[in-house]
Formats: sequence, C-alpha cells, structure tokens
Amino acid sequence: MATTDYISVVGMIMMVIFFSSYVWADPDMLQDVCVANLASDITMNGFACKRDVSAHDFFFAGLANPRSTDNIYNATVTQVTVRNVTGLNTMGLSMSRIDFAPGGLNPPHFHPRASEIFIVIEGKLDVAFITTDYKLYSKSVKSGELFVFPRSLMHYQINNGKVPALALAVFNSQSPGIQRVATALFASSPSVPNHVLAKTFGIEIDEVKKIKSRLAPKI
Ligand code: GLV
Ligand code: MN
Repeated sequence: MATTDYISVVGMIMMVIFFSSYVWADPDMLQDVCVANLASDITMNGFACKRDVSAHDFFFAGLANPRSTDNIYNATVTQVTVRNVTGLNTMGLSMSRIDFAPGGLNPPHFHPRASEIFIVIEGKLDVAFITTDYKLYSKSVKSGELFVFPRSLMHYQINNGKVPALALAVFNSQSPGIQRVATALFASSPSVPNHVLAKTFGIEIDEVKKIKSRLAPKI
C-alpha cells in the first residue's frame, strides 16, 4: 500500500473517532489545546496543561522506520500516547505501529481505557478477540483491511505468513493502557506466587519457574 494511501486511511479513521462523541472513551476537551506537563506535581485525571506550547509538542517522527522484531515474540509495538506526544493530552486519541516478523505474535493483551481500530498496512495477519462469555472472534486481515477490538477485551494478532507484516492501531484514549496477560501473570513485580500459577494452569511449579524466567519484567 502506498504511503499516501495509508495516511488517508488513518486520516479517515481519526475523523470518525473525532466526530463519534458517543464512543468517546476519554473526557471531552474544554480548550483548544492542553499540552501535557509531564513534570507537573499536580495529579489529576490526565495531565496538567503546560504554558509554553510549540509545534514540537504535536510532532513525532518515531513511526517512520521499521523496528527490530528481535524479541521473544518476534513482534514490536511502538506506542504513540500522551507520554511521547504530549499534545495528545485531553484529545482522546493515540495510536501504535506494530512490526511483525514472519511468525511474529502480538501476544494476548487488552486495553482498559480504549477500543482499537487495527489496520493492516503490509502483509496479512490472523487476529482475534475474546468476549467475556469466552467467544472467540477471529479473522484473517490483509493489507488495506481493518479489524476492531472492543475496549477491554483480550485480543492478539499473529503473522502466520512467510513475509514481514506491518499494522497501525488507533485508540480512542490518549492513554489506552496495555496489559499483556502473560506478562501480568508471570512477570509482575512482586511476582504472583508460583503455586497460584501452577494451580491456575494445572502445571508443575518447575514449569511456572521456566515461564517466569523466559519473560522479561516489562515487555
Ligand atoms: C495492537 O493490538 C496494539 O495494541 O498495538
Ligand atoms: Mn491492542
């Protein structure tokens, strides 16, 4: 897909989110801009506004290049949230770029504060989410197509193809949050007791220890 094509796809999705206030996940904005002052001592829902604002606060160049997928999942998520684009504060928007090597997996996770529109830019991905009544909704999604992951529902994507894949995701929150199931259970700090995990999954303590040692504390 040409760069201009995918920029217009993302643009359209941003517009839909902007004008669909009934699906708004974050509180509405009360002023034109409220660039986050991440250093402020004031704690509130979101971030306090900073005084000196520049175009730089609304800019991010970090999605331009492919990221290394050299990790245990062979997939890498690059997030663009209020934490790295402070101009997103109060806008109810964020996104991410996900690079997948062949066989790469964005492992089961959920976003407590946002629904997600997931657009495949290159390659093909097998994606799925699971509802609270444990139904799995899955689909193969190829370049130019998209899939929606409802807020807070567990989901994953895997590249079962032989070539790398690339996707963009858009969220209706400035800070959707991401909780990876395996990381939460096996790499929290302090850690979940081994016997709890052994009983939960019906496995031996040694197996629990093996899984814990494979997962870095924060992936
Ligand atoms: C994809 O599911 C993502 O959260 O980036
Ligand atoms: Mn996601």
